Amino acid sequence: MASRYREVYESWLKDPEGFWGEAAKSIDWVKPADKVFDADAGIYGRWFVGAECNTCYNCIDRHVERGRGDQLALIYDSPITGAQQKFTYSQVLDEVSALGAVLQDLGVEKDDRVIVYMPMIPQAAFAMLACARIGAIHSVVFGGFAPNELAIRIDDAEPKVILTASCGIEPGRVIEYKPLLDEAIEHSSSKPSACVIFQREQATASMIEGRDHDWAETVAQAKADGRRAECVTVAATDPLYILHTSGTTGQPKGVVRDNGGHMVALYWSMKNIYDVDPGEVYWAASDVGWVVGHSYIVYAPLLHGNTSIMFEGKPVGTPDAGVFWRVISEHKVAAMFTAPTAFRAIKRVDPDAEFIGKYDLSNFRILFLAGERADPDTIQWAEDNLKVPVIDHWWQTETGWTIAGNPMGLGALPVKHGSSTVPMPGYEIHILDEANNQVEAGKIGAISIKLPLPPSCLPTLWDADERFKESYLDEYPGYYKTADAGYLDEDGYVYIMARTDDIINVAGHRLSTGGMEEVVAAHPDVAECAVIGIADQLKGQIPAGFLVLNAGVNRDPEDIEKEVITLVREKIGPVAAFKLVLAVQRLPKTRSGKILRGTMRCIADGEDYKMPATIDDPVILTEITDALKGRGIPA
Ligand code: COA
Ligand code: AMP
Repeated sequence: MASRYREVYESWLKDPEGFWGEAAKSIDWVKPADKVFDADAGIYGRWFVGAECNTCYNCIDRHVERGRGDQLALIYDSPITGAQQKFTYSQVLDEVSALGAVLQDLGVEKDDRVIVYMPMIPQAAFAMLACARIGAIHSVVFGGFAPNELAIRIDDAEPKVILTASCGIEPGRVIEYKPLLDEAIEHSSSKPSACVIFQREQATASMIEGRDHDWAETVAQAKADGRRAECVTVAATDPLYILHTSGTTGQPKGVVRDNGGHMVALYWSMKNIYDVDPGEVYWAASDVGWVVGHSYIVYAPLLHGNTSIMFEGKPVGTPDAGVFWRVISEHKVAAMFTAPTAFRAIKRVDPDAEFIGKYDLSNFRILFLAGERADPDTIQWAEDNLKVPVIDHWWQTETGWTIAGNPMGLGALPVKHGSSTVPMPGYEIHILDEANNQVEAGKIGAISIKLPLPPSCLPTLWDADERFKESYLDEYPGYYKTADAGYLDEDGYVYIMARTDDIINVAGHRLSTGGMEEVVAAHPDVAECAVIGIADQLKGQIPAGFLVLNAGVNRDPEDIEKEVITLVREKIGPVAAFKLVLAVQRLPKTRSGKILRGTMRCIADGEDYKMPATIDDPVILTEITDALKGRGIPA
C-alpha cells in the first residue's frame, strides 16, 4: 500500500485546527471545545479550550457501555513472581471506581495531587485511572528511585495521598518500598495526610497508625458498601498528571499533561502510528514510572479499546531470553513497543535467536523501538530474526507521543536505519544553528519544533512557568527546543544524534549527569567532580564520574570511589547505574574554568577529538586518557 503520510501531513499543515478538530471526534466529551486551539491562552496557546471531559470515562466506561465489558483490558504477566492475572474492561471499572471512592473518602478532590510509587502490578494502572476518574492529578514516581528523589517529587507535587505497594521485585531481591516511602516522607516538607499500601505476598509493610491504610481492605470495604466514584467532569485543559523528568540540575522538571489534548493525540496514534485495531493486544514493555508506561501501557491502549499488557520482568533472566517471545505468543500480541537496550540484552545472551524459533509469533506484526538511539545492528538483528517491520520512533516525556516516526497505519514509509523517519502531523521540525537559522539538509543542528506544540505536549512545567520558558522556549524564539541535536536528510527523514544538554540515556532511562554531580560533590573528600555519559554496549550509555580529592586527603582513593558510588545509589537510586568512578589529579578545563566534558567523553569512547583551542593545560587530557586506560576504557 502506498503511504498516505504526505497527504495527511499536508492536510495538517494546511489546517491544524481542522485536523485536530476532526481527530477529537474519537473522544467522548461532556462538552465540546469552544475553540480547538486558542493562541491567546496559556504560554504558547492551549488545545480544546472550553471542552469538558473525563479521561477515565474514555478509557473504561464508554467501552463497557458499548459492549466491550467482557473484553480483556489488562493482562498482568509477571515472570519474576510467576503470577498472571487478567482483567476485563468491566472488572477494571469495578476496581478503579472502588479505589476512586477510597481516595474520595480520604479527602481527595478534583485538582488534588496523588503520588503513585508502585511496581509493575495492575494496581499501578488502577491508581492512575482512579485519579483521572475523580479529577485528581497523579504523579507517578519510578520504583527504582531512592527516597531522596521521591522526597523531591513529594515536595514539588505536594500530594494529599500517596499510593504504594509493600515491595517491588528485581532479579534476586525484594525491594521493600515502605521504608523508602517513610524515609522520603520524613525528609520532605510536604506531608501527605494518608498513604494506601498494597500488601504483596513477598513483603509485608508495617503500617503507621492513623496515616496508612490497607489497599485491599479499603477497596473491598468500598465494594461491599456499594460505594463507587463517578467520573468527575474536568476541563480539557486541566492537568491529568505530572511526570517528573530529569532536567539539567538535581531538581527534576514536572512535566504537566492535560486531559483533552492528551486523549486526542494518543487515540490518533494507536491506529495511525501503531496500526492496531480496537480489540487487539498491544504491549509496551516499559514501566509505568516512565512516559512510555503512562502513554502506552495505560492510556492509549485503553482509550482505543485495546488489551494492554503489564509485564513485570526483564528481557533476560526472568527466566530466559525467550520471555518476550513467550509473552507475544501466549497473549497473541499484535504490536510491541520497547527500548533498543532490551533487544541488545537479548541479542547478547541469544545471538542466534534460538529462543525465537520456539514460539508461535504468527499474530505479531510490528516491533516499535524508542527511548534512545536505535543502533542499526540491533534493528538489523530484530528484522532478520523476527521477520516483522522494526520501527524506530523518537519522542520525549515532554510530548507524550511520537515526534518523528513511521506511521504504519497510514502505510509504511521505507525504513532507513539510523533514522526515526518523519515528523508526525502536529510537528514542524526545523534544524537550527546558533543564530536561529535553518541549516541545510544533512547538516547537524539543534532539532527544534515550531510553535505551537501539538495536543498532548506539555503546556508548562508544574508550578514553574518561568522555568518552562527558560528551558524550552527562550533560546530559539518561536520554537520549542528539544535539546536533541541531529539532522534532516534530503527526503525529510529525521536523525537524532545526541543531547545538547547534560542528560544521558542509560538503558532507555533518562538521567541528569548534573544531578549526579550534585550528589558526588557533597562527599566531604571531593573538591570537584565531573560526571559524563560514556558509550556502553548494553545500556547505550553509562555514567562515569571523575573526582578530584581535597588537598590533604590521604585516604585510599579506592575507598572514596566506593563511598561515592554508594552515595549516588542512596540518593538517586540503583537505576542511575553509577558504578564507574575514577579519582584523578585534575580535570581538564578551558581557560575560563569550564570543564571539558565533551572532550573527556570522546577520550572515553575512543573517538577522535580536536584539542580545544581554549584548553588551559593539554597535559591533563593525557592524565585522563591514562586513568581511563587503567580501567580498560575504551574497551
Ligand atoms: N525498582 C528498584 N530497582 C530497580 C528498578 C525498580 N523498578 N528498576 C531497575 N532497578 C535497579 C536494577 O535492579 C539494577 O540494580 P543493580 O545495579 O543492583 O543491578 C539497576 O536499577 C539498573 O537497572 P536496569 O537499568 O534495569 O539495568 P539491568 O542491568 O538490571 O537490566 C536491561 C538491563 C537492558 C535488561 C533493562 O534496563 C531493561 O529491561 N530495559 C528495558 C527498557 C526499558 O524499560 N526502558 C524504559 C523506557 S522505554
Ligand atoms: P524520555 O523523556 O525519557 O523519553 O527521553 C527523551 C530523550 O530520549 C530524547 O530527547 C532523546 O534524546 C532520546 N530518545 C528517545 N527516543 C529516541 C530515538 N528513537 N532515537 C534517539 N534518541 C531517542
